[in-house]
Amino acid sequence: MLASCQEQVYPTDNEQLSHEEQIVIRFSHVVGENTPKGMAAVKFAELIKERSRGYVEIQVFPNGVLYKDGEEMDALLRGDTQMIAPAISKITTLVPEWSVMDLPYAFKNADEVHTYVESEIGQSLMTKLNAHNLYSMGIWDSGFKQLSNNIHPIENVRDLNGLRMRIMPSDILAKQFSSVGAIPKRIDFNTVFNQLQKGKIDGQENTLTNITSKNLYSLQDYLTISNHGYLGYLPLMNHEFWNSLPKDVQILLIETLEEVQEWEWQLAEELTAQWLKEMEACNCIKIHYLSDEDIEKWASAFDPVYDYYTDSFGEKYIQALPKYQTHH
Ligand code: LMR
Repeated sequence: MLASCQEQVYPTDNEQLSHEEQIVIRFSHVVGENTPKGMAAVKFAELIKERSRGYVEIQVFPNGVLYKDGEEMDALLRGDTQMIAPAISKITTLVPEWSVMDLPYAFKNADEVHTYVESEIGQSLMTKLNAHNLYSMGIWDSGFKQLSNNIHPIENVRDLNGLRMRIMPSDILAKQFSSVGAIPKRIDFNTVFNQLQKGKIDGQENTLTNITSKNLYSLQDYLTISNHGYLGYLPLMNHEFWNSLPKDVQILLIETLEEVQEWEWQLAEELTAQWLKEMEACNCIKIHYLSDEDIEKWASAFDPVYDYYTDSFGEKYIQALPKYQTHH
């Protein structure tokens, strides 16, 4: 090779490279390909392939085909997969302070979430991941969670009383339901459909894109548009693997992810709106909307969850939430 060529960032004829010569990043996730996360993963892979001219290949495994929900984090930590984008609630089993994001009505919209995560306090939460061999590249949205069930309409918060509700593994989410008399059930995402079908749970909370892409709404009679909590993801790499990547590849990944992230935020919003329209039109599930006044009542019913968080992790993550910023 000529000296000047050695300065080139990537080999030129990458179509010919074997997997041993390429950088291969396996990206495992648990949702469908037609969701914001599923589509962003594919877009990220395509852009990286194109921009590195095939030198870096991101192989995307959706729907838990490579590692199921509940397995993917361990696989990442072992280095068996190099990238995942778990829901933040699932990261709370490693770094429980992150469950500030699970607090009911902590955020009004996704912009508030992004601002929080990009702030100093959010970045301090990001840094905590490094001690667990995790490197976070940003934040992707799924959207805000809604409640579905097949026992009765949920209009008042007390209607949750006695319902068996599926949750992601997060103590704050468990507290959210138990504080209003519901029975939280930690169940892997990929088995929610099955558990609903078997009648092992009455309902669940999730974003509209997850509810629709997994066809959960076909098993549920009632949907409440409660927007009570944010569901988003941290695109994570194994930190050791990240550190092993050449600097120019790291820069390419970061810059491309920033671009994909903007695109993903927009997509999540659009898909959510689109699915809501379709569900309204399908007449297959009874939809109830909470009013602003209801939301105030619901939010105060969840005060004990905030106390629980404060008792466990102090006040600083809560004090930095946008709703306390405006009041002070
Ligand atoms: C869930 O378990 O409900 C979600 O985390 C699935 C996902 O990744 O959006």
